[in-house]
Amino acid sequence: MSIVEDTARAVAERYSIHEIRIPLMERVELYQRSSGETSDVVEKQMYAFADHDEAQTMLALRPEGTPGVVRAYIEAGLDRSDPEQRFYYSGPMFRRERPQKGRFRQFHQFGVEIFGRPDAACDAELMVMIDELRRELGLELEFQINSLGDAQCRPAFRAALLGWGRAHLHELCEDCHQRLERNPLRLLDCKIDVKKVESAPRSTDYLCEECRKHFDTVQALLAEAGVPYIVNPKLVRGLDYYNRTTFEAISGAIGSQSAVVAGGRYDGLVETLGGASIAGTGFAIGVERIALALEAERFRIKTTPDVALIAMGEAALHTAIGLARGLRQANLRVELLSPERGLKALLRRADKIGAHHALILGANELAKGVVQLRDLKSSTQREVPLAETINALAADAEIQLSPVRPLERD
Ligand code: HAM
Repeated sequence: MSIVEDTARAVAERYSIHEIRIPLMERVELYQRSSGETSDVVEKQMYAFADHDEAQTMLALRPEGTPGVVRAYIEAGLDRSDPEQRFYYSGPMFRRERPQKGRFRQFHQFGVEIFGRPDAACDAELMVMIDELRRELGLELEFQINSLGDAQCRPAFRAALLGWGRAHLHELCEDCHQRLERNPLRLLDCKIDVKKVESAPRSTDYLCEECRKHFDTVQALLAEAGVPYIVNPKLVRGLDYYNRTTFEAISGAIGSQSAVVAGGRYDGLVETLGGASIAGTGFAIGVERIALALEAERFRIKTTPDVALIAMGEAALHTAIGLARGLRQANLRVELLSPERGLKALLRRADKIGAHHALILGANELAKGVVQLRDLKSSTQREVPLAETINALAADAEIQLSPVRPLERD
């Protein structure tokens, strides 16, 4: 799993996004005010408990990262002193859900939150970034996008949906009866009434001029950047803070819990939580779901070393420890084997740990300033000048000099 987080971190840094660490616990009230009182996350899924303070403050294990990042941003005064900020975070989240494949009670997200960028280019760039991550991991994902409009145009859409819902109430499921009065947008992502809501109003038909322009620009920029997507007018998302752009990246390889990344714009959230009126947009990757998709596509994290280093004798060991260090600095994965055993046993050990190569250094090699480079797959061996060892290894196509553990495919 660390491959997902390591790769995401490396990609995020290239977008000039930097790490923020947020607490595992926040006040329940924070989630009620941001994720929404009627969202499943707040209503049913929080691990909440009373603190032992006098007020018995209600705390919750974080079900998601966005509210905690916004709170920290406001508390640091950044909304007023330096509003344009780009953060990523990574760590466990907790939701009391019915566990199944791809849905866990403790799971991990890698999230990104950008503040002070109301422009469509920022939304598009977040998706370009996810696409880059997808490509680096070798995954196939489909982007679905939608626009929910803003405070100006959403009331008309909401009213239309309410009207449609009331007219079709007799056809809808029990849960939808509840949703209708409390949060009619959620009718659209009902998992039972999928077919029935086909005829419901679509947010994209109600966008005001500004929201339409924003959505058109997002799409034009995605096309320009070569990121394929489809518009899914039913993509309303389960959290209340979104406006304008929402998106998900879907994997076709992992069954029903197929959204591996999800996000969108939340321009009103900083103000709702007591800060200045600052735009926000972001996403979170479900790390386990990406790992499942990698597994489904037969990718494995390479855990075998590139090199088993064998030093025969005390003097060779002194050179070997420095050589190992130099190889590791070049991002080679090196295991220095125990000097206690004989060559035969050490070669067997090198084979057992799956090393591509063995480097053998004995008294003869030391005297000549060389090392024996043995390809353990083909059992061929050649002499290489010590100073040339890295280059000789790097020439092997199977060895990737990457700081992130590479992936292998069966
Ligand atoms: P979310 O859709 O609730 O959005 O979660 C984002 C991703 O986390 C999902 O697409 C999924 O991959 C993963 N995920 C969610 N719940 C579970 C679970 N129970 N087990 C395994 N994986 C899960 C958010 O959390 C927003 N904070 C995203 C965001 C950031 N929007 C703007 N900024």
